[in-house]
Amino acid sequence: MAYVLGRVLISKDKIDKMVAGLAERISRDYGEEELIVVGILKGSFIFMADLIRLLRPQVIIDFMSVSSYYENTRSTGIVKIIKDMDVNINGKHVLIVEDIVDSGLTLSNLKELLMTKEPKSLKVCVAFDKPDRRKTEIEADYVGMIIPDEFIVGYGLDYAGKYRNLSDIRIMEPDGGIK
Ligand code: PRP
Repeated sequence: MAYVLGRVLISKDKIDKMVAGLAERISRDYGEEELIVVGILKGSFIFMADLIRLLRPQVIIDFMSVSSYYENTRSTGIVKIIKDMDVNINGKHVLIVEDIVDSGLTLSNLKELLMTKEPKSLKVCVAFDKPDRRKTEIEADYVGMIIPDEFIVGYGLDYAGKYRNLSDIRIMEPDGGIK
């Protein structure tokens, strides 16, 4: 099915306030501690860039690119690393930054994998959470907004590689159809 760009679901203004709120909570929680912020490519890059500029703790950034494989009947799978981190997280405070948590499988697999590296702590910050789509029990530690089960783009999120650069979150709608 083809989709077309539809209405704004979350405005840039609301996103900015959401990011500021998250940054404040994270800054308070970590205080003077150094924090390794790991963005999961590609979707997280805009959110992460906004978030880290508002954080007060010392921040070291890194990125990973992963893809999850799993069988339909199973709630967990394996995560294939396409690009690994460069930084050693052993004994460090680590914050994973994601644009969206949907089934939860990527995060759940990723957390399991990073825990084997024995960080001092491992938390997750996600901009948008779709709890209706969850296939495994996982909750992010910091959630920007809970959103309905809509096909969204913008602010890092794509449709066939496009629309990541939109400042607002918008809904993709079926081409020619009424939703
Ligand atoms: C998206 C998102 C998460 C994952 C969430 O990435 O950035 O990594 O899907 O889905 P889940 O909770 O069902 O596992 P995507 O694979 O679309 O790659 P992208 O970030 O490069 O767009």
